[in-house]
Amino acid sequence: LDDVLSMLDAWDLVVVSNRQPYRHTYDADGEIAVDRPAGGLTAGLDPVVQETDGTWVAWGDGDADREASDDANSVRVPPEDPAYTLKRVWLSESDVADYYYGFSNRVLWPLCHSLEEKITFEDRHWERYREVNRKFADSVVDTIESNTVDTDSSVERADSDAIAETVEGDTVVWFQDYHFGLAPRFVRESIGDEALLSQFWHIPWPEREVFRDCPHGAELLRGLLANDLLGFHIPAYCANFLDCVSTMLPEAAADWEDWTVSLADAEHTTRLRAFPMGVDTDRIAEHAAAPEEGFWERFRADYGIPDDQQVAVGIDRLDYTKGIPERLAAIEHLLEAHPNWRGEFTYIQKATPSRTEIPEYRELGRRVDRGIERINERFGTDEWQPVIEIDDYLSEEALYGLCRYSDLAIVSSLADGMNLVALEYVSAQIDRTGVLLLSERAGADELLGDAAVSIDPTDTETFASRLDLALSMPDEERRRRMTALRSVVSETNIQSWMADVFEATLTLDQAADTTTDV
Ligand code: F6P
Repeated sequence: LDDVLSMLDAWDLVVVSNRQPYRHTYDADGEIAVDRPAGGLTAGLDPVVQETDGTWVAWGDGDADREASDDANSVRVPPEDPAYTLKRVWLSESDVADYYYGFSNRVLWPLCHSLEEKITFEDRHWERYREVNRKFADSVVDTIESNTVDTDSSVERADSDAIAETVEGDTVVWFQDYHFGLAPRFVRESIGDEALLSQFWHIPWPEREVFRDCPHGAELLRGLLANDLLGFHIPAYCANFLDCVSTMLPEAAADWEDWTVSLADAEHTTRLRAFPMGVDTDRIAEHAAAPEEGFWERFRADYGIPDDQQVAVGIDRLDYTKGIPERLAAIEHLLEAHPNWRGEFTYIQKATPSRTEIPEYRELGRRVDRGIERINERFGTDEWQPVIEIDDYLSEEALYGLCRYSDLAIVSSLADGMNLVALEYVSAQIDRTGVLLLSERAGADELLGDAAVSIDPTDTETFASRLDLALSMPDEERRRRMTALRSVVSETNIQSWMADVFEATLTLDQAADTTTDV
């Protein structure tokens, strides 16, 4: 974290994300309370924004958020020790319906995961995506302008001749994710070179044969090319993006050696880079170590899991990209083809409902329930329920405790930018006794290599035989593989990921290098 902070020393940082880091709510007495980030990027980035007294621009949601915010839509956070400004962008119901549920999650989400059959496009989705991106851009531009007024122009940036040559302002804006395909261009049109613009695209970028079906795809590419730096998890997504630009934008000059793109009318160049994202390994290991003696015995007793059985776990947002029905099909096939496993292991599914306004997500929920019921009816006995679905809230300690003690974790995404659950499982495996089964279609597969047991989630038979292999794996091999996984995951953690992104963003003279060691 210190590395990140020293790099950002002379910069005003503006982070832009759809979800906000702090959400105001009303408690039972009608008093304003605050929900905090539970993990992932928001929790990782929050200390950086606190230390730099930056600004975080995000979707403000609900009456309590409004009541807590001032006339400039801002509130200082965290509440007990205010350190930075959270600037809210208010969205109407139809903004949410068409920008968030519509273009973001019914077009871009399935498209980028190459699940075109799930796309539903309506013109109004696009119109509203554009308008909401404009709202976010306006809020960013206001922030940059007030930063510029506040800044003494003689401030020098430490060791940054290259930066000073290229950029006149001293604000760096970091956009997160696919909700903001157009905002960088709107910001650039207003402020020119007054700020550095960087974006991280947290989901895959598909091959051009898929992306060319994207409504308004060329406009999105132009929007993203307003950034100075565009980051993806793995080199393959950078290459797909470059391929799309080369074939869809005649006015773009794409350089395949330096991984840069220049648009004919632009004064800047966009660099593409791969930054495999990590998790907060230390924090997760601490949580995994925290449960008291007897936690696992109690947990098993609560859910009726016999003591002598192995436990496999799947932890997912209930999303059709995660391959949950495919996983259940493999478990069913295993129990059918390898009856020796009946009564020998229990699979725990923890799935968190998500985006339930979208029919495909509701249908998925029903499919998963049906799949679980079928397995339990076919193979369950009085003593043993093969699949247990956990709907209860689990604290971080309980969740990471579950990861620590489970003998197997199954990540079977049909497509996935990275898949942080895989990295979290490894971080929680402090005793190194578990096995990770990982989809070859998740970005994490490229990062973790052979130490995980690789699966193709759509090939049910082979998937089932990998499950058999993992369940039968000797302790020594488990330990060897988990040691290797833990070494990669601790080197590529959330802090080093942020340091890499900021270093690349703030150092414009470095040649882009997408061949990072992933
Ligand atoms: O992976 C993309 C992502 O936006 C994550 O950053 C986030 O955790 C997840 O999808 C959840 O999405 P939503 O904000 O739609 O619930």
